[in-house]
Amino acid sequence: MLKPDEIPAHIGARRKIMEETILTPKKKKLAHPAAKSPRIFADTGSIDEIKPLFEAGIVNGVTTNPTLMKKAGATSLKQAQKMMKEIVKLLDPYPVSLELTELTKDKMIKQAEKLAAYGPNVVIKVPIGGYRAIDPSYDEHTGLKVLHALWEKDIKTNATLIFNSTQALFAARAGASYVSPFLGRVADYMYKHDEAERDMGNSLYFVEDHRGARENTRLHNTGYVAAGGERKDSGIRLIHEISVIFSNYKIKTEILAASFRNDVQVAEGLLCGADILTVPAPILMRVASHPLTDEGMKAFVEDGKAFES
Ligand code: E4P
Repeated sequence: MLKPDEIPAHIGARRKIMEETILTPKKKKLAHPAAKSPRIFADTGSIDEIKPLFEAGIVNGVTTNPTLMKKAGATSLKQAQKMMKEIVKLLDPYPVSLELTELTKDKMIKQAEKLAAYGPNVVIKVPIGGYRAIDPSYDEHTGLKVLHALWEKDIKTNATLIFNSTQALFAARAGASYVSPFLGRVADYMYKHDEAERDMGNSLYFVEDHRGARENTRLHNTGYVAAGGERKDSGIRLIHEISVIFSNYKIKTEILAASFRNDVQVAEGLLCGADILTVPAPILMRVASHPLTDEGMKAFVEDGKAFES
């Protein structure tokens, strides 16, 4: 885990330029104490997973994608649309990212306008690239062009599938409201390709006992955060890089850290400068608990029995 003196100093400066994201109603005397980021979103298409987290005030936003909608049980376009509308309504006025599935600029813009009509809190998720991987005749910059066109139409966007800091910068320049770096997929990829004998720059994370403790290491693969440390995790490092760049240039596009794999990444995602973490519901449920909290609660309830009337 990060030590307190390793927490990057730029994060506080970035908070100064960011808007309040939790709104305090005018008639309330007590302003919300955590009105500025970091925010926590639920990374799921399941309203049953979202509801308890939203009601507990843990999440105030949702991200979905076609894979998550399928996982949540959608088997047709009609069903997926119904599920997305329900989520948008429940979360209003908090943001819900809905991903485009069309692959050419004009069709994507049309689809975005339809999705944006679901509610004022809809954010359109636009893949940053990969178009030529689907069909070599496609325009690789389709994502950036769509982000820019939607900015011109005052539609909020979330640039997804971000894997380096220049992609994040280009998305911000195109007008994206959010960028989603996938820290877990970087970790997964580098885990598979990590070789102890290579230089650290070629590996995602550096472990002393590379051969002996793989499984354990994978679970705790964020032993160091950010540039300059003895150990590196390029997933968390990616978030840190984007955060430094956006902070230096006063870019207000929010850094929506995505693709979480474990509990440790949640704490480190906050420490390294993400504005928002979008996390699967099971991880969020888990990090809300602690065995010592359970133990302490049992003792309070037991001792409280002495005062029962
Ligand atoms: C982000 O918005 C994506 O939906 C998500 O985090 C992707 O995560 P995965 O790598 O678990 O698919």
